[in-house]
Amino acid sequence: MKRAFLAVLPLFLVAACTGKRAAAPSKPEASAPPSYEIRLGKETFRLYCQTCHGETGAGDGFNAFNLDPHPRDISDTAFQKKKSDSDLADVIRRGGAGAGLSALMPPWGRTLSEAQINEVILYVRTLKKPPA
Ligand code: HEC
Repeated sequence: MKRAFLAVLPLFLVAACTGKRAAAPSKPEASAPPSYEIRLGKETFRLYCQTCHGETGAGDGFNAFNLDPHPRDISDTAFQKKKSDSDLADVIRRGGAGAGLSALMPPWGRTLSEAQINEVILYVRTLKKPPA
């Protein structure tokens, strides 16, 4: 009885180890749902930013035709690479006039909390187009 147990034990261990490896997902991030913060940021973007910046951040919101200059494509990979999170937070807080850009970009520092600004930045980062 004891011998039989010792004989099957290695098989059992091998099965346990390979089974675990096979069960591990190959790309965990690809299917991960957006975090709670990103979903809050999306809602803030929809309420306060989308009219000008457009649903995808391309700068084609329904109010964009009124604006000269038009908002740039903030989903653009080169733009996203160039701007740090604190650059984005600065222009969102102080608006275009505060950051040396067009005053048509309103300041949000008195409307949105710091947490909301951080969330909206997390969401804007998800708009980044995959590299072509
Ligand atoms: C009334 C229209 C309008 C609304 C609403 C608006 N923006 Fe803008 N935004 C602009 C315009 C116009 C520019 C371009 C300014 C320029 O290039 O001089 C801009 C530029 C930007 C930029 C790019 C700044 C850069 O470095 O070039 C960011 C980031 C941005 N907006 C974020 C936001 C966020 C986040 C919100 C919502 C909280 C928002 N905007 C709401 C009009 C708007």
